[in-house]
Amino acid sequence: MAYTPHLLVALLALTPALAQDLQTQTTWAAVVFTFHGEQIPSLHDGPYNLTPLGANQLLNAGQVIRDRYISAPVNGSEITIAMPINGLSSDEIDNSQMEVLSTNDEYISGSALAFMQGLYPPRNTIVLDEESELGNGTLEQFPLNGYQYPNIETLSTVDYNYIWLAGNVGCTNYSINEVNTIEAQGFTSDMVATADFYQSLADSVFWDFDPSIINLANAYPLYEYALFEYNHNRSVYDTLSLANLTQLQNLASLQQWDFNTPTGGNTVNAIAGQTLATKVFTQFSHNIASDGVSDKLTVMFGSFEPFLSFFSLSGLSTGPSASAFTSLPEYGSMMAFELFSYTPRHTGMNLSTPFPSTDDLWVRFIFRNGTNESDPMIAYPLFNRGNSEVDMTWSEFAQGISGFAISEVSDWCTSCNAVNLFCEAIESNLSNSTSQHLTQSFSSKNLSPAIAGVIGATVTLGLFIIGSLALCLLGFRIEHRERNPSAQTRDLGVLERSRSGGFKGAEKLASDTDLTLKTGAGASVIRHERVGSWELNESPTSGGRHSSLDKEIESGRAVSNADYSRNSEDGIGPCNPFGDPVKPVDHV
Ligand SMILES: *[C@@H]1O[C@H](CO)[C@@H](O)[C@H](O)[C@H]1NC(C)=O
Ligand SMILES: *[C@@H]1O[C@H](CO)[C@@H](O)[C@H](O)[C@H]1NC(C)=O
Ligand SMILES: *[C@@H]1O[C@H](CO)[C@@H](O)[C@H](O)[C@H]1NC(C)=O
Ligand SMILES: *[C@@H]1O[C@H](CO)[C@@H](O)[C@H](O)[C@H]1NC(C)=O
Ligand SMILES: *[C@@H]1O[C@H](CO)[C@@H](O)[C@H](O)[C@H]1NC(C)=O
Ligand SMILES: *[C@@H]1O[C@H](CO)[C@@H](O)[C@H](O)[C@H]1NC(C)=O
Ligand SMILES: *[C@@H]1O[C@H](CO)[C@@H](O)[C@H](O)[C@H]1NC(C)=O
Ligand SMILES: *[C@@H]1O[C@H](CO)[C@@H](O)[C@H](O)[C@H]1NC(C)=O
Ligand SMILES: *[C@@H]1O[C@H](CO)[C@@H](O)[C@H](O)[C@H]1NC(C)=O
Ligand SMILES: *[C@@H]1O[C@H](CO)[C@@H](O)[C@H](O)[C@H]1NC(C)=O
Repeated sequence: MAYTPHLLVALLALTPALAQDLQTQTTWAAVVFTFHGEQIPSLHDGPYNLTPLGANQLLNAGQVIRDRYISAPVNGSEITIAMPINGLSSDEIDNSQMEVLSTNDEYISGSALAFMQGLYPPRNTIVLDEESELGNGTLEQFPLNGYQYPNIETLSTVDYNYIWLAGNVGCTNYSINEVNTIEAQGFTSDMVATADFYQSLADSVFWDFDPSIINLANAYPLYEYALFEYNHNRSVYDTLSLANLTQLQNLASLQQWDFNTPTGGNTVNAIAGQTLATKVFTQFSHNIASDGVSDKLTVMFGSFEPFLSFFSLSGLSTGPSASAFTSLPEYGSMMAFELFSYTPRHTGMNLSTPFPSTDDLWVRFIFRNGTNESDPMIAYPLFNRGNSEVDMTWSEFAQGISGFAISEVSDWCTSCNAVNLFCEAIESNLSNSTSQHLTQSFSSKNLSPAIAGVIGATVTLGLFIIGSLALCLLGFRIEHRERNPSAQTRDLGVLERSRSGGFKGAEKLASDTDLTLKTGAGASVIRHERVGSWELNESPTSGGRHSSLDKEIESGRAVSNADYSRNSEDGIGPCNPFGDPVKPVDHV
């Protein structure tokens, strides 16, 4: 990959203080969170896979990360543009050095694969080693020009590690707050104020939908849809002006900002940023505890919620670049955190560079907006520091992060008021020694990663069995918010988007606020939240209600052929802890 001048300039601008002039940077670890690429929009029928454009966006993102953390610095330049991670394998993928985490949404795991193709491209060379030579003298090469096989952990919501990627999913209080946000006075008046704009696009762009869903409360799915149509439908491309597309984007940003950032004393809206922060800190801690050996590179894939939450929690949205950090990132955008130290220049970066003491470690935050070739990676100061203070010491970073990160999984369960297997197991204290171990493996810096891993795996299995039994015994079911039958005409129909990207059901919200728009009585609201079927599962007790709602929504065209069949895959299934659908032991 060649470096564009633009990139060079951007990176020059972030070269650290002059005092470090005679030193060179050694990067020890990096954690990168990437927004998935373009997908089939959730307002379409599924399957919701990645589009070719989306795959190329993520391929590009992976190449940029390769350039920064793997490739050697460009051609002996005095300014180190690349920040190669010390000891990270450069050509041949070494899965033991990395952790690659994705949710199991197909467009997100697809994004992870595309990114990894850019990070470790096919070797495209004849490799002569023991594993390629056969006893009879034949050479056997990997297919597709030496394609490399990444170990991507695709997590489902039954795995507690899922919360690091999407802390908002399955978080009951987050969902409740979303509804409260829509019903709040300010939002309602914004809805009224933007109603004309949305309706003006009803024929040209949103021609396929019931007018009642074309409103600010559905701003994100509508923007996602419009962008997709703009990219792929000739007549929309010709008629939708860029200004109007941008306006749709701004309104989607407005809506999602409200959903994903703290309001008043209520921080659970920003839960996705809190859990992400915890994961970043944990990965760096593991790297430090292992003297730079483990967790060199962590790449995570998810949606935009963690971005917005983190922007707001970390002070990016109030810092020197505030205006840029209140809007949705573009597809394939990345947040990267890097842990590094300075070493005297002539030692250079080499494998025997000793791991520094914690006092000599630095952290830097980098953001790349979109995947245009000319989009640079730019360092920004966190925690309301000044523009010249993008680099912070490890302890400054730890202190800043600890202001909002959750300290263990049970914090997530509590803040979210979540109901699921692992929370049930942690909270019901069926085995107090087990939960202690769990806590330990999260916070311990003394355990070697291998030991922590073994404990973690055992604990997961233990918790899982215990939790399943408990839920069976307790008769697992989750009640939704009561709906107020008398408010029928004012109800907001909220379409619940399943994690597989479609709309699998609807929730009627008792609405005390008058949501009357110019278009008539109620407004339909599609909630962009990939809530797992924990909350929507057609359990025997709620089945009747949901199926009637499904029908209602299906008549509204938006969700006609959504695939409901996945429910059982994600759900708790029959009361059998070893039942086929749930596979919680895969990940630690
Ligand atoms: C490195 O720079 C030299 C001269 O400055 C040039 O001849 C060479 O092609 C460059 N190599 C690469 C890989 O850019
Ligand atoms: C060597 O073994 C491989 C795999 O069993 C086989 O495909 C190949 O034809 C063999 N080559 C020769 C020269 O026998
Ligand atoms: C789009 O934007 C333009 C001005 O930017 C406005 O005149 C027009 O009415 C908008 N709506 C449509 C459907 O083009
Ligand atoms: C493209 O959009 C127009 C409306 O603007 C619609 O009539 C047409 O069916 C769409 N084409 C496809 C392939 O969806
Ligand atoms: C990213 O791009 C969007 C426009 O697509 C813009 O609104 C936003 O401010 C940009 N964010 C940053 C941090 O540059
Ligand atoms: C690598 O680092 C060690 C210790 O800092 C130094 O002695 C050695 O010369 C370096 N090797 C190279 C090839 O730079
Ligand atoms: C990429 O950036 C260039 C220059 O900033 C711009 O002209 C071009 O339209 C952008 N491409 C895309 C796909 O955004
Ligand atoms: C979560 O929701 C429950 C029930 O509505 C409430 O009692 C609890 O205080 C909420 N917790 C937080 C942290 O908001
Ligand atoms: C486990 O908790 C119970 C009460 O919930 C307590 O009586 C018991 O002593 C605890 N066991 C251990 C090992 O802490
Ligand atoms: C749960 O276990 C912890 C430690 O194992 C103990 O401190 C706590 O009191 C227990 N809670 C209940 C309700 O048993």
